[in-house]
Amino acid sequence: MSNDKLLQMFLREPGQYVSGEKMSQELQVSRTAIWKQIQKLEAEGYSFEASRRLGYRLLNIPDKLEGAWLESRMETSRFGKLIHIHDTVQSTQIVARDAAENGAPEGTLIIAEQQSNGRGRMGRGWVSPKGKGVWMSMVLRPSVPIHFAPQLTLLTAVALCRSLTRLTGLSIGIKWPNDLLIEGKKISGILLESAAEDERLRYVIAGVGISVNLEQSDYEDGLREKATSLRIASGKPLSRSDVIVQFMQEWEQLYDLYQEQGFGPIITLWEALSISLGKPANLVTPQGTITGIPVGLDSTGAIKIQLDDGSVIPVFSAEMGEPT
Ligand code: BTN
Repeated sequence: MSNDKLLQMFLREPGQYVSGEKMSQELQVSRTAIWKQIQKLEAEGYSFEASRRLGYRLLNIPDKLEGAWLESRMETSRFGKLIHIHDTVQSTQIVARDAAENGAPEGTLIIAEQQSNGRGRMGRGWVSPKGKGVWMSMVLRPSVPIHFAPQLTLLTAVALCRSLTRLTGLSIGIKWPNDLLIEGKKISGILLESAAEDERLRYVIAGVGISVNLEQSDYEDGLREKATSLRIASGKPLSRSDVIVQFMQEWEQLYDLYQEQGFGPIITLWEALSISLGKPANLVTPQGTITGIPVGLDSTGAIKIQLDDGSVIPVFSAEMGEPT
């Protein structure tokens, strides 16, 4: 009897007891064989509740991402209701883009245990070691013009920041535009890539990388000073499934708010979580470097920078750093 068949029985009816009799009938093995298999699963990190009368109930699974289990826990109506989990892919962005081109509905979520060529912003890479983080891309189909795409990046950062703060109790801030930092070190990154036609977005691939359980040794020298993980920051490992479920719920709620009320409420939330406002900054743009003080977001999603002469200009895309 394979582990898989037995697990499928529990995953088919999440949270429900499955009787020993039902298991042995369906899998055509003895009750003793079922009991031995349950013990084997417990040794692998699964936990069950046993009732003499009702059978067994699956309580928890090891920190291995499992699509059916995640889908069953999702408290959303669209986000993460269809999940595809891969062991290794180059980048979940590529897999999600193919899915979107083939008509995948909004909310389809592609997750990988590991990425061999994870992509970051500005052509950089993204460290994505096996089983240590959440490396995922979701298909969005918003009915907004293409120049609104940056607003979705900011919205995603707010949702991620709120859900991770709630889950860990850590103090997490947003560095413009969408980096989440703990004590100045990055714990996640967001990369939105879109396809448009006639000025309208056909779809957006929202890529999110969350460094959940990485350890110091997972980072190369040079990155160790700039990046951290939730595990390093909190001193204890975290369930990646919990991270995904919480984030999806927060993300869908904010996305629905955005579709109903526009970008205004997101500006307020982003500004409240921002660690960039009010501190002198250098913004490196393709046109040159701008030095000034970020004072807020404008209605398009650009950051407003107050210059030395008191004037305020919007900056749409740049790399932000501290003045040298
Ligand atoms: C950044 O540079 O801050 C953005 C990093 C985005 C990383 C995520 S991990 C999942 C998805 N797949 C990728 O290749 N990149 C994004």
